[in-house]
Amino acid sequence: MTNVHSYTKKVISHFKHPHNYGKLKRPDGTGEVGNVVCGDVMHLYIKIGKNKQGREIIKDIGFETYGCAAAIATSSVITDLAKNKTLTEALLLQKDDVIKTLKSLPPIKVHCSLLAVDALNEAIHDYFSKHGKPIPKALEEFHKRIEKSKCEIEDRYGEWVGEQRK
Ligand code: FES
Repeated sequence: MTNVHSYTKKVISHFKHPHNYGKLKRPDGTGEVGNVVCGDVMHLYIKIGKNKQGREIIKDIGFETYGCAAAIATSSVITDLAKNKTLTEALLLQKDDVIKTLKSLPPIKVHCSLLAVDALNEAIHDYFSKHGKPIPKALEEFHKRIEKSKCEIEDRYGEWVGEQRK
C-alpha cells in the first residue's frame, strides 16, 4: 500500500532517470520559474517545428531543475507530455495531468507539479513574444502573475537572494 506521504515508484523512477534532461542549444523559447523560499528553480527550453498539418508543435524540449525529487520528476513528466503536442494542446496541460502520470504526489509536494506547468507556459509565452506572435489573453495574464510573484520574492527576500547569488 502506498503511503500518501511517500513517493510512488513512478516518481522515484523519473527522479533517478529524468527524461529530456539538459539545456537545448538555441531554444525558440525558455521558461524560468522558481520559488526561492523552497529553493527550487526550473528552466525549461523548447524548440518549435511543424506537424504534417502545418501546425506548430513542440519538436524538442529540455529542462534543468535545481530542486527536490518531486520537482525533478514533475519536470521530466511535463517534458514527456508536451513533446510533439501542438502549442494549443501544450497550453492545456494541467498539474493534474502531471500528477496522474506519476500516479500521485504527497500533498505537500503538489506545488512542485505546478512549477513544471508554469515553466512550460512561460517557455511558450517566451516563444510567442520573441517571434512577434499573438499571445492568447489568458497566457499573457498568467505571465504577468509570474512576473509579479518574481518581484514580490525579490522584494521580500532580496537581501537573502543576493547572498545566495554571490
Ligand atoms: S519543494 Fe518546492 S518545488 Fe519541490
